[in-house]
Amino acid sequence: MSYLRTKLAAAALLAACTWPAAAHAADACKLDITGNDQMQYDKQALSVASSCKQITVTLHHAGKLPREAMGHNWVLVNAPDLAAVVNAGMGAGLAHDFVAPADVRVLAHTRIIGGGDSTSVTFPASLLKPGGSYSYLCTFPGHSALMHGTFKVN
Ligand code: CO
Repeated sequence: MSYLRTKLAAAALLAACTWPAAAHAADACKLDITGNDQMQYDKQALSVASSCKQITVTLHHAGKLPREAMGHNWVLVNAPDLAAVVNAGMGAGLAHDFVAPADVRVLAHTRIIGGGDSTSVTFPASLLKPGGSYSYLCTFPGHSALMHGTFKVN
């Protein structure tokens, strides 16, 4: 009986140790970031493991304001392209989520959302190089000065 109990305890311990590690490996390719009505993201940096095949970023809007007034998106670019992508996006307007159609400098992007909404984008990790210098930003006009961060592949 005590042998069985020990064996069960060992099995439980093993499950407790291995399962979170496996879950963590999968979660490392799925990121969350939240915007608010104060024109801020809650994170200034995001990173993924180089072992990720697909990367999913989910953007949440924790505010109450509509997308027309305080819209947020999540746009991934090579760091030096940030200003040019913002400028091109401004001309595209809300109908295009403030992302210029066919802008090759945009590596991935979500749509623009308003308060209480969430949206995700999934893209292949092969778009990114380990050690590359990437930035993410919100392209809603006037937002990128506050709403930007660094994105890394570890
Ligand atoms: Co925004």
